[in-house]
Amino acid sequence: MKKFLTTPIFYVNDKPHIGHAYCVFATDTLARYWRKKLGRENVWFLTGTDENSQKTVDAAAKEGLPVPEYLEKLAKNWKTTWHEIGIDFDDFIRTTEDRHADKVHELINKINDSGDIYEHKYVGKYCSGCETFLKDADLDENGHCPDHKKAPELLEEDNYFFRLSKYEKPLLEFYEKNPNWLQPDKRKNEVLNFIKGGLEDISISRESAEIGIDFPFDKKHKIYVWTEALMNYLTGCPDEDFWKGCTHIIGKDITKFHCIIWPAMLMSAGVELPQNVFAHGYFTVDGTKMSKTLGNVVSPVDLAKDFGNDAVRIGLLSSFEFGNDGDFSVSNFEDFYRSRLAGGVGNLFNRVVVLVNKFLDGNKPAGSNETQTEVLEKFDKHLESFEIRTAIETFFGVVDSANELLNKTEVWKLAKEDSEKAKPIFAELLNHLEILVEMAEVLFPEKQGAMKAMLGDADKVGDGEILFDSNRK
Ligand code: MSP
Repeated sequence: MKKFLTTPIFYVNDKPHIGHAYCVFATDTLARYWRKKLGRENVWFLTGTDENSQKTVDAAAKEGLPVPEYLEKLAKNWKTTWHEIGIDFDDFIRTTEDRHADKVHELINKINDSGDIYEHKYVGKYCSGCETFLKDADLDENGHCPDHKKAPELLEEDNYFFRLSKYEKPLLEFYEKNPNWLQPDKRKNEVLNFIKGGLEDISISRESAEIGIDFPFDKKHKIYVWTEALMNYLTGCPDEDFWKGCTHIIGKDITKFHCIIWPAMLMSAGVELPQNVFAHGYFTVDGTKMSKTLGNVVSPVDLAKDFGNDAVRIGLLSSFEFGNDGDFSVSNFEDFYRSRLAGGVGNLFNRVVVLVNKFLDGNKPAGSNETQTEVLEKFDKHLESFEIRTAIETFFGVVDSANELLNKTEVWKLAKEDSEKAKPIFAELLNHLEILVEMAEVLFPEKQGAMKAMLGDADKVGDGEILFDSNRK
């Protein structure tokens, strides 16, 4: 079995913020889980940047840089950001790469061979902010794009169209046969309602675009950026076996593209559909939508400088259920850091190891290496069902029960009186730590090494250490 995990490719001209990081952390967590289970060679994690946009051409001109140089700089920033916060991707795709243009041509030709592309004059209202045509119903009361607060331009051009309408029935049949293909259910229901409302053919080319991939059989046209962006997943897929195990992790804002247009294009091109799609929710920061104008955009790198990568990762992923909308509050995050990470996990590891060193000369008592598998089985199940927050709760459940055991038995008093009597309790505590180290391989990639070192080898524990400094920040 092979697993291929993808994130959306991010608009290269945006600055990476914790909304993007949320999606990437989630995908990275799943990739780490699958690597643990299947071996690194059987997992491929793809992310990247969406680059063929007029906005970047305009911005490059403003900075006085040639477009390729400008794009290189921006893409590097995304890559570096992910590396800095501990994301372990296998490939980073940029849609301006030749390998992508080649794949896109191959797919467009296949779709054309199916008779699903035709030429047609299109008149519509185009919002350059969204890079999409908007219908009157999409506009606000001033006739403006509700997201960009700007009137769309009236565009009239000769376009190539994709016969999306032809796939209305095949898509409904597909969803009927594969009820778990798109999760969670509420997203699937939205998509199904949309399809049932009737699908119109969509324009897939632009005559006026300055940047982009040439239309294979008409060089006057470029391929519409969203059409080719979706195809990145095939460009970046190592082989057919990986494609069979492909999971797209996306935000709920782009389900129509991924769960209607993309599968229809794949059907047309005669390519199997990916294994499944999970659309997570959107979150606000301290109750407000993140926006450049409001100045409340939080950088994951800044946050990680103060708290460390694992804290940001787990803080974000545990703020609300994966699949639901939520809120991330910096002050709640600080509380979480202090109480659950420093006071919970860190304190537990340090106390147990320091006590075993003090009272048992660091020797592990009999029965210390008997990891119970039930909790780990539950943990795995949660991750396989995209229940990332529940998997994290499973981890903290073990932390809490170990801390309870420690406090309830007051093992440090017992050990002082009679270290023999304390041994079974220490063994149980060390077992709890073993389980936590196992789960930490997936959840705490930065700290897992230190946790493992504290647990030591089969015979002896290591030295105590502060995993999460409560005075940090
Ligand atoms: N370039 C397109 C995707 C093309 S994929 C073939 C795009 N890019 S984006 O930069 O806008 O990134 C969108 C993704 O970032 C969302 O789908 C979501 O996963 C993530 N998020 C951005 N802001 C977010 C929040 N405030 N909350 C949660 N996720 C957020 O769309």
